[in-house]
Amino acid sequence: ADTRLVDGFGRVATDLRISLTDRCNLRCTYCMPAEGLDWMPRDEQLTDDELNRLIAVAVHELGIEELRFTGGEPMLRKGLENVLSAASALQPRPDISLTTNGIGLARRAEALAAAGVNRLNVSMDTLRPERFAEITRRDRLQDVLDGLAAAHAAGLKPVKINTVLLRGVNDDEAADLLEFALEHGYQLRFIEQMPLDAQHGWRRSEMITAEEILERLEQRFVLRESGEDRGGAPAERFEVLGRRDGSPLRTPGTSGSAPTVGVIASVTRPFCGACDRTRLTADGQVRTCLFATGETDLRAMLRGGSTDAEIADTWRHAMWGKKAGHGIDDPGFLQPTRPMSSIGG
Ligand code: GTP
Ligand code: 5AD
Ligand code: SF4
Repeated sequence: ADTRLVDGFGRVATDLRISLTDRCNLRCTYCMPAEGLDWMPRDEQLTDDELNRLIAVAVHELGIEELRFTGGEPMLRKGLENVLSAASALQPRPDISLTTNGIGLARRAEALAAAGVNRLNVSMDTLRPERFAEITRRDRLQDVLDGLAAAHAAGLKPVKINTVLLRGVNDDEAADLLEFALEHGYQLRFIEQMPLDAQHGWRRSEMITAEEILERLEQRFVLRESGEDRGGAPAERFEVLGRRDGSPLRTPGTSGSAPTVGVIASVTRPFCGACDRTRLTADGQVRTCLFATGETDLRAMLRGGSTDAEIADTWRHAMWGKKAGHGIDDPGFLQPTRPMSSIGG
């Protein structure tokens, strides 16, 4: 029998995304209110030992090949390096990556690399300090820029940048952000905003669509669909062939292959059919999808004395019930009660 995480539509989850904490040191307006949220009580969070055990079950019993640590902000988790080191000692060795807002990364990039992190995705929505302060409600752009450089220098490559464009706030910056990414050798991806904010204020009409993103980029750059098979990857990639005005690209790019820019069009071009993800929240709940309406409690099993085999069975059973898609466009769609900052992006 297949011991992997197979669902009723034949998809196999090989990518485990783990939210290490629901806390964050930024307050992005499209994510949470200025005062923050009611954070998860400490005793509800998995301990390092509990987390290490679930990760080992996932890798040894369930065929998980990739681990992505998210938050909130994963670097706020005490003992982060311990969890990373334990994960990187597993056989077969999983690919390990982190999705972070970059605050404090400059000081920690080397330690993260030493603990086994392979790659980093850093969220950054603007290059203008005053806009950064407006969007995140914290005046910390320079920290993030320093973090990107430190990650690159520590070999955590490719360093990817995730950007959410907000109408009337930073949607005029798409081409400038690409310019910046090309110049530094970072891989930029634009993300369509999804209905996962804590305030439930998302409006489809406000969202900057993939089409609009590409339109803004193509005002300055010549792009071509990469044509690659993206597998379960959320980003469609476009090669940046040159500039409209013919002036040369400033990029350290590898000779021969064109640099790329990505678009994660979760809403207008859903990629659920190729999804290879399963999720674990900081309080030990399995989520089959960002938009799942139910969760499966592995923490209760851990604390109730269940065996690894029992936990693995429960996880398999949960994934079997994964829905075909996120259903954002379905009549009667309901946004999940758990916000993005607690599910992990
Ligand atoms: P790599 O391509 O492996 O670097 O990772 P990734 O793009 O999956 O990871 P990252 O954490 O940077 O995610 C970027 C964005 O992709 C997230 O913020 C989400 O907006 C989106 N995303 C990730 N997983 C899913 C998913 O399961 N469903 C949807 N709709 N969007 C997702
Ligand atoms: N829709 C899309 N992306 C979001 N992010 C946060 N909230 C949303 C949302 N509602 C992004 C962050 C970060 C990544 C983890 O998810 O900007 O780049
Ligand atoms: Fe923090 Fe990420 Fe939410 Fe911004 S989007 S407040 S960085 S969890």
